[in-house]
Amino acid sequence: MEVDKVYLGDCIEIMKKLPGKSIDLIFADPPFNIGVKYDKYNDNLSYEEYYDWSKEWILETCRLLKKHGSIYIAIGDEFAAEINIILKQTGYYFRNWIIWYYTFGQNQRKKFNRSHTHILYFTKDKEKSVFNSDDIRVPSARQLVYKDKRANPKGKIPDDVWQFSRVCGTFKERLGTHPCQMPESLLERIIQVSSNEWDKVLDPFGGTGTTSAVAKRLKRHFITMEISEEYYNLILKRLDGKVAEIKRDVKVESEKQMTLLDMA
Ligand SMILES: C[S@@+](CC[C@H](N)C(=O)[O-])C[C@H]1O[C@@H](n2cnc3c(N)ncnc32)[C@H](O)[C@@H]1O
Repeated sequence: MEVDKVYLGDCIEIMKKLPGKSIDLIFADPPFNIGVKYDKYNDNLSYEEYYDWSKEWILETCRLLKKHGSIYIAIGDEFAAEINIILKQTGYYFRNWIIWYYTFGQNQRKKFNRSHTHILYFTKDKEKSVFNSDDIRVPSARQLVYKDKRANPKGKIPDDVWQFSRVCGTFKERLGTHPCQMPESLLERIIQVSSNEWDKVLDPFGGTGTTSAVAKRLKRHFITMEISEEYYNLILKRLDGKVAEIKRDVKVESEKQMTLLDMA
């Protein structure tokens, strides 16, 4: 099986061609079906369409994952309950319902501001899976506040509410104009804890390629797919270390748009 590979196309079709039980860790950040404007994908399916499509791709992940593999799915409030049920029905075992609390939530006018995303963490085997707890420990209150000598000097395993900032438009980390770039720090935690060096990490919804970029930096093999050619090219450039080129492309594109607006 070819690794360190970015595929252009539909993830279900591509996953179907990959060998079963070949992947150690899957991270998926699918479109949430909330009308986000992507380059190619229509994020406005009917309830049934989205539900059936989710079942289809999740089933394929289960075929690909090795016996002791793990899967994490990021999902919004609208479909978190459904994805949780689909994961259980597919035969996965529940580990955690993680809340990613992001500072810089989007302001709303007629409801509370949204400032979280769900990350559902499941494993294929009930008992055994990779969990490198020492690689992701954080300082504990016992250490920092109470100066308790019994505190583990390596820190504690993080709680299931994670705080990482979103990658906003003005942030240095931001690449291109993709609407949903995830922060590398969040992927770092997941990849470090649930995979080992040179394991295979798969992300069916590449986007800007965050999962693969972090996997590569942490010496894991990556496999990802993206349906939009524009985002696919962005991922290739990111993995090639051509961040300056991506930022220049965005600048040129936005200058073109400004000129068109001036002419209108
Ligand atoms: C929420 S974004 C992923 C963002 C990514 N986690 C990141 O950090 O950049 C979802 C992506 O899935 C892509 N997509 C939608 N349907 C797809 C499909 N059937 N196969 C492959 N990619 C798809 C969209 O174009 C979009 O870029």
